Amino acid sequence: MCGIVGYTGPREAAAILLGGLRRLEYRGYDSAGLATVEGGRLHLRKRMGRVSELEDLLARRPARGGCGISHTRWATHGPATDANAHPHAGGRAGMVGLAVVHNGVIENHARLRAELMAEGFPFASETDSEVIAHLIARALETTHDLLEAVVTILPRLEGTYGLAVCSASHPGLIVGARMGSPLVIGVGDGEHLLASDAAAVAPHTKRVVYLEDGEVASLTPAGLDLAHRERGPVAPRIDRIDWHPDQAELGGNPHYMIKEIREQPTTVVDACRGRLSRRDATACLGGLNLSPRALRRARRIVLVGCGTSWHAALVGEYLIERIAHLPVEVEYAGEFRYRNAPLDDRTLVFILSQSGETADALGALREAKRRGHPTLAIVNTVGSTIAREATGGIYLHAGQEVGVASTKAFAAQVAVLTLLALYLGRLRHLSFSDGLAIVEALESAPGLIEEALKVEPIVERAAEQVATARTALFLGRDLLHPVALEGALKLTEISYIPAHGYPTAEMKHGPIALVDPQTPCVFLSARSPLYSKTLSSIEEVRARGGHVITIGTDGDRVLPALSDTFLPIPDAPEVILPLLAVIPLQLLAYHVALKLGRDIDKPRNLAKSVTVE
Ligand code: G6P
Repeated sequence: MCGIVGYTGPREAAAILLGGLRRLEYRGYDSAGLATVEGGRLHLRKRMGRVSELEDLLARRPARGGCGISHTRWATHGPATDANAHPHAGGRAGMVGLAVVHNGVIENHARLRAELMAEGFPFASETDSEVIAHLIARALETTHDLLEAVVTILPRLEGTYGLAVCSASHPGLIVGARMGSPLVIGVGDGEHLLASDAAAVAPHTKRVVYLEDGEVASLTPAGLDLAHRERGPVAPRIDRIDWHPDQAELGGNPHYMIKEIREQPTTVVDACRGRLSRRDATACLGGLNLSPRALRRARRIVLVGCGTSWHAALVGEYLIERIAHLPVEVEYAGEFRYRNAPLDDRTLVFILSQSGETADALGALREAKRRGHPTLAIVNTVGSTIAREATGGIYLHAGQEVGVASTKAFAAQVAVLTLLALYLGRLRHLSFSDGLAIVEALESAPGLIEEALKVEPIVERAAEQVATARTALFLGRDLLHPVALEGALKLTEISYIPAHGYPTAEMKHGPIALVDPQTPCVFLSARSPLYSKTLSSIEEVRARGGHVITIGTDGDRVLPALSDTFLPIPDAPEVILPLLAVIPLQLLAYHVALKLGRDIDKPRNLAKSVTVE
């Protein structure tokens, strides 16, 4: 989703801004632009399309200067056009002197636009963001001070923003402000950066300051001032980024998605590192900030997330109910935040989010917090808003995930939820030996995922046929039901083939109508007590001439005979089956999308981190 990068310092800003925008490309966008200040002049360049198109424009019409702001836009108000791309210029006709980039949504933009137009401010775009530029320009006419002008107009904005402003009348100065949309300052030597994602500043500095809602920053090459717009000056809290930007390089892989699929053995090692205790046959989860006594009192768990995180939460439901015997409910964050879901004080609310910035997940966290509940986060991005606002939680330690289609974060979430189920189980009734069996299963998972990845050549062949399908069905039972949903989502997201995931038993209640020789039916069916029931469902599809792909245990003699394609996964304890069964599904989505020539890491219309509602 939209990205912001700003720079002020001794170097040429445009090159640094372009480099930063490239690091944010993975978030999804449809236009890009930048503004620089050179002496008393403002240069504005913007283009619909990719950052490379902006770069071509800059090669023809350079934008010089050591101070500038830039943006990648993911269209909300108005389509992807040059005019709607950010930055937006502010000022009366012929007097444009400042530029603004904005993430978020200004809900009262129509009223503000009418007011500004009546005063003669010209509008060039259909965006909600342009009003901010003109509001600041109007305030600057009386204050003549950029920081003061920004602070003056912020109370007029209803909605969310992360914004950055630069002005021809204030060379070297960038003003940033945050309300509901993340901003981070990079503190360098004689230079400062401002970005919506630490990935953009990481190549330049490891020292960062995360802005909180209501804070306003003013940056010059040598200075950094932070203030809360109502409470006054704030001492900047400097954090360190603990990952290296090279982690996000492709390392010889053609796409981030396949790199991240292949990384999953390490992902699970990192998610479990230091968290498994053989001595006590349990998990060690120090960051929950709740005493064992408080956790033992819990009578119910609510897991909240969106997209792939929601699917991981569903796996968590099966695991926690099975291992810890606690009732679990899984909620879509966008519903939970507005639904009056009954929560009592013995309910624990966990918010799952890879990015830690998803607007709906953050809204759900704030709603639970508002009601006085301890809120626990299962998050990947260290220092993200959800991580900072939660009362406690568990980091995934999966490293940066770049591919828009989430893969390794799913594995990390499932591993962490297994740890949580084990921990909660051992606080209650789970025996030492049953706990130890789960510890051992998790320890064996990375090696088994490595084995599972060897299925790729068979998947590649199966992808040929799936690539020609108009739709596909993904079916699984029990712990593999959410994995089937995730397999369908992966295929839909990156190949654009509409795919449907169901619990296998539901097939006969509707989806069976789709079965024909052109519709791949992907059954997940490793060894489990429900194995024979799945065989019956497969027979029902075969009887109707359906195309059957099965995922089952290596060595199974029955499934291959019933399948057009059999995709083996290693024999493994049931609790870690989701980590293995998802591998062929991720690979299938990847290879189908590859055959169809899709933009795998940046699928159309999708964003990595959805920071608007
Ligand atoms: C977007 C992404 C999905 C992701 C979802 C939740 O829709 O495209 O891949 O699963 O957001 O993101 P989160 O960062 O909260 O896990």
